Amino acid sequence: PNILLIVADDLGHHDVGYHGSVIKTPNIDHLAYTGVRLENYYVQPICTPSRSQLMTGRYQIHTGLQHNIINPFQPNAVPLDLPMLPEVLKQNGYSTHMVGKWHLGFYKDEVLPMNRGFDSYYGYLTGSEDYFTHRRCGALPGANKTVCGIDLRNDFEVDWNQTGKYSTQLFAEKAEDVVRKHAVHQPDQPLFLYVAFQAVHAPNQVPNEYLKPYDIDDPKRRLLAGMVTCMDEAVGNITAAFKDTGLWDNTVVVFTTDNGGDVNENSGNNWPLRGWKHSLWEGGMRGVGFVNSPLLKSFGYPVNGLMHVSDWFPTLLNLAGANTSSISGLDGHDIWKSIAEREDSPRKELLHNIDPLYPPRGSKLNHTYDVRVRSALRVGDFKIITGDPFTGSWVPPPEYHKKTIPDPDPRSKNVWLFNVHEDPCETTDLSVALPGVLTMMLDKLLAYNATAVPCVFPDDDPRSNPEEHGGAFGPW
Ligand SMILES: *[C@@H]1O[C@H](CO)[C@@H](O)[C@H](O)[C@H]1NC(C)=O
Ligand SMILES: *[C@@H]1O[C@H](CO)[C@@H](O)[C@H](O)[C@H]1NC(C)=O
Repeated sequence: PNILLIVADDLGHHDVGYHGSVIKTPNIDHLAYTGVRLENYYVQPICTPSRSQLMTGRYQIHTGLQHNIINPFQPNAVPLDLPMLPEVLKQNGYSTHMVGKWHLGFYKDEVLPMNRGFDSYYGYLTGSEDYFTHRRCGALPGANKTVCGIDLRNDFEVDWNQTGKYSTQLFAEKAEDVVRKHAVHQPDQPLFLYVAFQAVHAPNQVPNEYLKPYDIDDPKRRLLAGMVTCMDEAVGNITAAFKDTGLWDNTVVVFTTDNGGDVNENSGNNWPLRGWKHSLWEGGMRGVGFVNSPLLKSFGYPVNGLMHVSDWFPTLLNLAGANTSSISGLDGHDIWKSIAEREDSPRKELLHNIDPLYPPRGSKLNHTYDVRVRSALRVGDFKIITGDPFTGSWVPPPEYHKKTIPDPDPRSKNVWLFNVHEDPCETTDLSVALPGVLTMMLDKLLAYNATAVPCVFPDDDPRSNPEEHGGAFGPW
């Protein structure tokens, strides 16, 4: 089949129509309702981590990217010895194209999307920027100043001349071009199109016309609503291009967010879940996700089996009939039968992360596993969190005019155990009531941690300064 993989940036659990939001997403809702909605589906709390797992099928403890994102001045990337999804699809006869946000490293040529398996690339390499100027600024350490540059590329070349063109519309057009050209020039080859929208990450910017349907009084939230609706229109346009060209009948669409909405930075929302982007609470990681395809024999239902962003790598490769015999050590599971045939999910455990560089919190327990370390693990219905999970309040969307329920826990607390099936809002910590489960979870964390590779998080490199490279972000 053709594969259309769409990633939305920072799209919150409560920011799509089919989750009861005031935000209008008719195209997404239609695809979700006429497809299979993944309602026990997880992503990582932030950007690079989710994308690295999407592209490699491996947990962060197995790629060295346990900590934070790759920032624009950092000489870091997904390790080159780990095959990426487009590389394997290309080896197996696919034509492979990417539009949008990379955020998996760009400090040297070898790690760019075009050298990681994509036949074409149109997009930006860092994690965020202005939607209209395609410029990004940041504080370059050591230089003691803010530096700025363009971050937009067509294959390897900088695209200097798109100022004023809103990225969601620009990326939709580029994706439609890919589909139309493919249909004309490579009709016999399967297509893999990875569309990673800038939307709806901060800064909140959108052409005014998209604000018209909204009378939300919180200005940031209103902008976000417009951004989501514009992205929804882009999803409609891209899927329409598949339909117009006849490719649709043999296409599988996967839609996923990269993490929870960010209530502070851009008024994304995950109500009624606890926490938001950056956190190990459900609001940071329980992702919006669904699959749609004319190839699905049954559809229109939610799937409640446990699933994770790392599962797409083996799932899509198997669906593509790819030879994966040389690939070992994956953390993802092939979840296709659970989606398409409603079989139980093969995934019973999910290591959310173990981050050895995050500032530790609280004191040790009487167990070998160091609970000051930031980590979280799911086993069946149970979830353990240790260390500092980030703020755990419950924030209703501004349009509800309700008060935030503040994080009730003291700063010294560093162990929580929840039954997420019965208590998805994480209100009732069971770590004292269920000591046997707690010990089992800590033993498992210890075992996972023993398989971790060293965490790679290099210092910023002043040579990355875009002002010394003609004014554009790129390899240095
Ligand atoms: C971009 O625009 C400038 C000014 O209009 C022009 O001189 C330049 O040739 C353009 N570059 C490209 C690559 O089209
Ligand atoms: C979708 O397509 C229509 C018709 O070509 C166009 O006017 C609109 O700007 C497109 N929307 C996006 C978000 O690309």
